[in-house]
Amino acid sequence: MRHRTTITDPVGKRQEQAPGPGGSVLFGALSSFKKDTLRLLTELQRQYGGVVRMKMGPYLVHQVTDPEAVRHVLQDNARNYVRGRFYRGFHLFFGRGMLTTDGAEWRTRRAVSRPFFHRAALRARSATVTDTVEELLDRWEPHARSGRPVDITDDMMWLAMGILGRMLFGVDLRRYADRLLPAVRFSLKAMILTGEVKQMLPRWVPTAYQRRLKRHQRTLNDVMDEIIDLHRRGGGSPDSVVAALLKATHEVTGEPFTQRQIRAELKTLFLAGHETTGCALAWTLYAIARHDDVRTRLDAELTTVLGGRVPTAEDVDDLPYLRAVVDESLRLYPPIWLFPRDTVADDRIGGHHVPAGSTVLVPVYAAHHNPAVWDDPETYAPERFCPAHAGQGTNGGTRTGRTPRQRDRYDYFPFGGGARKCIGMDLALLELRLAVAMVVQRYRLQPAADHPVRPTALVSLRPQPGVVVHISHNGPAERKTPPA
Ligand code: HEM
Repeated sequence: MRHRTTITDPVGKRQEQAPGPGGSVLFGALSSFKKDTLRLLTELQRQYGGVVRMKMGPYLVHQVTDPEAVRHVLQDNARNYVRGRFYRGFHLFFGRGMLTTDGAEWRTRRAVSRPFFHRAALRARSATVTDTVEELLDRWEPHARSGRPVDITDDMMWLAMGILGRMLFGVDLRRYADRLLPAVRFSLKAMILTGEVKQMLPRWVPTAYQRRLKRHQRTLNDVMDEIIDLHRRGGGSPDSVVAALLKATHEVTGEPFTQRQIRAELKTLFLAGHETTGCALAWTLYAIARHDDVRTRLDAELTTVLGGRVPTAEDVDDLPYLRAVVDESLRLYPPIWLFPRDTVADDRIGGHHVPAGSTVLVPVYAAHHNPAVWDDPETYAPERFCPAHAGQGTNGGTRTGRTPRQRDRYDYFPFGGGARKCIGMDLALLELRLAVAMVVQRYRLQPAADHPVRPTALVSLRPQPGVVVHISHNGPAERKTPPA
């Protein structure tokens, strides 16, 4: 039932509260929010619309999915929105780095890393991406010969980690995988503050959970310290982001970055950069494996444009269907499914009063699955992103009998928007497009029976329990190995 309440703001103006489920507590406790978060957020959007007011545990929260309202929060009035209480869990593992800070603290960090993410700089190094993909494809040869089902999810994380290390860290991060991966697995769960007692106890209480937390934090710190020390001693690459951080001056302190600040920045790039891209790769290959028509059309485009050779960054411009396949995967399975903010001052979103100090959630998953915006939102249909559809409405327009609408910038925002838009977007898209092209050129993946996959809302949208496929060679023998 919709609750419509009118309130009077501090200057005596009457404003309507956003609709919402009412009552003081929606989920009883944050832990129940965790159980089926994606369904809850999507249903709230469908039932109450683009701006929804609710209580989550003790917190007043507004969920925002209407494109105008998302633009307001991420772009037009972004100064009024800070990382806030939901980011506190992230501090445990990311430290105070580019993702978790605001204002000048954030600006100085972003400025150091920015040159590494320029499209031209990335394009010039696309062979690093394709070489790393090639190594993975070679590792899949025994799977293709045996025909046995294989879970490719971890391989995608492994690939993303390999590319990230070579492109940014000046070392192959996979060298540290045995230590890093258990720490990542633990931290992805622990970063989401669910209100469980084990998370609420003070840090000094010696519980088994706190001991594990400290151990994994220490591992992440130790590995980053080793990479920094390697660069200090002249090892590593002089062109890496590590070297740039060692040379940079901090805008706020006027001093060089401290070891702790450099470490936080590296943890941020590592954690934000590999798991997201790994999930996106796994979901895209899963979607292609499930849709033979998509795979056939993509294979035909790749054969026509590339004729079996390894793609370059420039080739991607001539592969519109490949780009559409990746874009549609990021719509249906957005790796970052929610971004939270806290309001600094009172605000009006979509005409609704939003008080200072409350939380605004932008659930990109619910926005990307909004039936008012997307025709058949649960269907995987790359055609939506093909040039023939460019500028057309996303809701099917006349075909569905609805009033056609032009696509809005904030109908689709897998990488966020405004000044805090993902710094790694161009790297992630380059990786995704080149890797997907190379997998499809060389192999055919088919979903293994009895291995259903469910999107699970951890820090990123994980395919769980995993993407299990049969791998076989694609096409005639001469297409399996691209010419040198
Ligand atoms: C498919 C892959 C990726 C997706 C879907 C993704 C998504 C996002 C989104 C939605 C945000 C904004 C969050 C917010 O506004 O609260 C973000 C921020 C960020 N991403 Fe990504 N990301 C991806 C890959 C990467 C890569 C490869 C890197 C680095 C190597 C990276 C580093 C970052 C950083 C550092 C931020 C914080 C930026 C800031 O606050 O200034 N991401 N990402």
